Amino acid sequence: MKNKFNNSQPNFIEYLNIFTNKFEKFYNQKYFIDSAPNILKESIQYINSTGGKRIRPFLVCECAKLFDIKFEISIYAAIAIEMVHTYSLIHDDLPAMDDDDMRRGKKTLHKKYNEAIAILSGDALLTDSFVILSDNYRNIDLNICLKLISLLSKSAGSGGMVGGQILDLFPENNNKKSVNLMNEMKTGALIRCATSFGAILGNASKKDCKNMYEYGNSIGKVFQIKDDLLDLQGDEKMVGKRINKDKDNGKFSFIDLYGEGKTKKIALTYISQAKDILASYGTKSNYLILLTDYILDRNK
Ligand code: IPE
Ligand code: IPE
Ligand code: MG
Ligand code: MG
Ligand code: MG
Repeated sequence: MKNKFNNSQPNFIEYLNIFTNKFEKFYNQKYFIDSAPNILKESIQYINSTGGKRIRPFLVCECAKLFDIKFEISIYAAIAIEMVHTYSLIHDDLPAMDDDDMRRGKKTLHKKYNEAIAILSGDALLTDSFVILSDNYRNIDLNICLKLISLLSKSAGSGGMVGGQILDLFPENNNKKSVNLMNEMKTGALIRCATSFGAILGNASKKDCKNMYEYGNSIGKVFQIKDDLLDLQGDEKMVGKRINKDKDNGKFSFIDLYGEGKTKKIALTYISQAKDILASYGTKSNYLILLTDYILDRNK
């Protein structure tokens, strides 16, 4: 089935697959640390070969396109953010955190190797992501390079993803405000970073930077809501990770506060906010609009 915009264009899933294949080719070429010990090279190759939807890199490259930045330029920022995301998943699955054995339909890294290798592979991916940014953007534009490094470090750190993971494991409260804050930090921060990277790479105006931040903020919330819904209703084979585990792990989400029906309605209001922002970019944002729906409709 073709999408509604232009019959000669591929539908969204085809388009995402084309992107994913292209991304993976570059990822494997550009992220390679020659001097790394073999076992570390192997473990990182293993986790990278397990796939993943590559939503954050897709967001970087599509948002950059809104500002006429080509894939060949945005790819390094896309790789860096996927490295940080991958590290967050490796550590999230460790016994000390969510204790999961399966990720993307394959063994989690600590199950395939061991906990020390998993911890250190995560450390390497996080640290090397900043090498990818600094090595590839410093000669293009030093100011842009610095902005990318600054935003990625803030998004990944204590006030972003890591802070959110702390709130997930050690919640301060179980109310709407605290669940919302946890989601905005643990998942939203990297997604806002991905959309904002597009604006930074394009040297966009203040208004466009705000739009990309707000767009990322809205879809980031939907992304975690859907992740929580998939834990309850997903097909384990399709999702590629153990389902019905959040309750057993004592996790608290919007679904516990509102039930599934109202939680989906909340997600739909964020989707419509996200699409309102994209509307001002005309046909250039067609695939981002389709992505916005995919985030709630996806089955993995
Ligand atoms: C899962 O992220 C973890 C969350 C932040 C909710 P993804 O659903 O993007 O995982 P992959 O990369 O596609 O496996
Ligand atoms: C993960 O949230 C958020 C991260 C920062 C990795 P979850 O713990 O719900 O993610 P999954 O369900 O294991 O992918
Ligand atoms: Mg978790
Ligand atoms: Mg988890
Ligand atoms: Mg989850």
